Amino acid sequence: MRILVFGVSTREGSYNRALAKATASVLETLSGVTVDHADFSEFKSPLYDGDHFDGTKLPPGARELAQRLSLADAAAIVSPEFNGGISAILKNSVDWLSLLRPVPFRGKPILLMSASPGQFGGVRGLWHTRVPFDALGAHVFPDMFALPNAHQAFTDQGEFARAEDKKKIRELAEGFTTFVRSFKS
Ligand SMILES: Cc1cc2nc3c(=O)[nH]c(=O)nc-3n(C[C@H](O)[C@H](O)[C@H](O)COP(=O)(O)O)c2cc1C
Repeated sequence: MRILVFGVSTREGSYNRALAKATASVLETLSGVTVDHADFSEFKSPLYDGDHFDGTKLPPGARELAQRLSLADAAAIVSPEFNGGISAILKNSVDWLSLLRPVPFRGKPILLMSASPGQFGGVRGLWHTRVPFDALGAHVFPDMFALPNAHQAFTDQGEFARAEDKKKIRELAEGFTTFVRSFKS
């Protein structure tokens, strides 16, 4: 099983990228799992504008995301909460990909996660983030994960600083891969 993993931030020192990296490391330890750990800078796309879209050619970043998704059985997307909702750059990417047929997210199992220095970890944003994926026919894993106090969650080496977080991510990774297998069989 191949899983595309990425954090939705290009910020140096991003907590969401850190959580994506740490989650990718955990997923890689599971038997039968191959991880494609991407950097969101590979997928960054200009804001969708219908006046500058000829109806066929998506920008390179959106095409890259579509290609990498098509090679994956599933995706784990780690995205910050912005003002209680979805990150605009993630929504923009989803909008671009929704113009393709078939829509690349359709039937794809998706694990949604977030990290925030705040005490709720971005959990409100996750409920908002899942809406376009649900609308496009993705299979959003019911156990979304929000990491609170993310500024204290990682060591300098990028590993989980809190044993309970590592345990939770391991359980989440196992649960998600079982979920993905249920669609493959
Ligand atoms: C415009 C804006 C809105 C934000 N809104 C929220 C929010 O609603 N909830 C939250 O927990 N953090 C919020 N934050 C803080 C982000 O969680 C924090 O900046 C985080 O570090 C961004 O993710 P990154 O570290 O992966 O780049 C917001 C930050 C910005 C810039």
